Amino acid sequence: MSNSRDSWTGQVGFIIAAAASAVGLGNLWRFPASAAKGGGGIFLLTYLVLFFSFGAFLLLTEISIGRATKLSPIEAFRKLSKKWVFLGYFQTIIPFLIMPYYAVIGGWVIKFLLQYIFVGQVPDGLFGSFVADIPQVVGFMLVFAISTFVFIFLGVQKGVERSNKVMMPALLLITIAMALFVCLQPGMKEGLRYYFYPDFSKLTAETALSALGQMFFSLSLAMGIMITYGSYVPKRTDLPRSAIQIGVCDTLVAFIAGVVIIPPAFAFGGEALATSAGPGLMFVSLPKIFVEMPFSRFIAILFFMLVLFAALTSSISISETCTASLADRTKWPRRKAAAVVLVYMLIAAIPSAVSLNFLDKTDYIVNSIMMPICALLTCVFIGWVVGPKFVKDEVERSHHKMPFFAYYRVLIRYLAPILVFIIFLGAL
Ligand code: PHE
Repeated sequence: MSNSRDSWTGQVGFIIAAAASAVGLGNLWRFPASAAKGGGGIFLLTYLVLFFSFGAFLLLTEISIGRATKLSPIEAFRKLSKKWVFLGYFQTIIPFLIMPYYAVIGGWVIKFLLQYIFVGQVPDGLFGSFVADIPQVVGFMLVFAISTFVFIFLGVQKGVERSNKVMMPALLLITIAMALFVCLQPGMKEGLRYYFYPDFSKLTAETALSALGQMFFSLSLAMGIMITYGSYVPKRTDLPRSAIQIGVCDTLVAFIAGVVIIPPAFAFGGEALATSAGPGLMFVSLPKIFVEMPFSRFIAILFFMLVLFAALTSSISISETCTASLADRTKWPRRKAAAVVLVYMLIAAIPSAVSLNFLDKTDYIVNSIMMPICALLTCVFIGWVVGPKFVKDEVERSHHKMPFFAYYRVLIRYLAPILVFIIFLGAL
């Protein structure tokens, strides 16, 4: 009896923690902006195909590496092959690059939340004047970064995980409700059509690369996070099922966020605005739709609170990984490592806070260049150095059959590396 309960909490706890890392600003802020820029429906379709044919398997692979080695990324790669430690380092650098600009966007969310709480509405053009007001942007970034580290220092993860059980479904529900509302509004047809109708003439290597990078970011892949999380997973856990649940949940939130954000941008600003807004899309589009909604102030406050919560849980997972890697490497006590990471984050965030362009460029380099290279190398490593059977064995330790193994072998050895390489070359 106690045994079966143990394993149950283990599996559910893991899925919730991993889903909480995955669902964040990547889904609500980044996905709609990438989709709008990447041709709408065709981006959606590319993303789905990439997720089911590749992303879900890569997620499973990373979790398996973690569970098999029980180590954080650098040590995990060292254990599997001395020559490939560099890949562990590469995976570890990426969260260090994401963390600072993630805090800047987290700060934008706090600004909008407070605006709705204290002023009740967001006037036209607020986003533009806000991002130009550097002391304000830096201030809100600080609030977000420090909140993240309050959790890391206090180590109240347990409490965070418990609130997740309420906050994540709440976020999903309110996003669905908002999506339905958007669909019922007049004037949304053009945007909905753009978002759902795949126009194959817009299928370029650039779109595919952007979808690929978006997928890695959103699933927290190619940055050691899922390896770290996998290292805490009990041996009994059904890995393929967990991977699918985490991935589908993440993808669902992203898709629905697109319905909420893209059509209003089309309706109020036309295609030109929607497809060029970039990182600001969510913050320009949402206020327009809130104005139309009944109880708009209340709904806006609730929505931004949930977004903030999702952003914080993701930010905690990035910062936690950086802290753990640094503590492992230097043998410093955890608190010292956490303090150093916090100071680094505050300094490294300044350029992104000062310049939207810098933020956008960093985001592009990390997601469209570093993460694909990292994922490609991981596939080559598993496919040719340790062998795909390593993952199969790890999955089957819990007496769950490895699904589609024949396909997985071909995917990890040939398809994925070649595909990533081609997309990459095509885009450059
Ligand atoms: N996956 C998270 C999101 O979608 C972001 C994230 C990136 C989390 C990197 C951890 C590490 O927002």
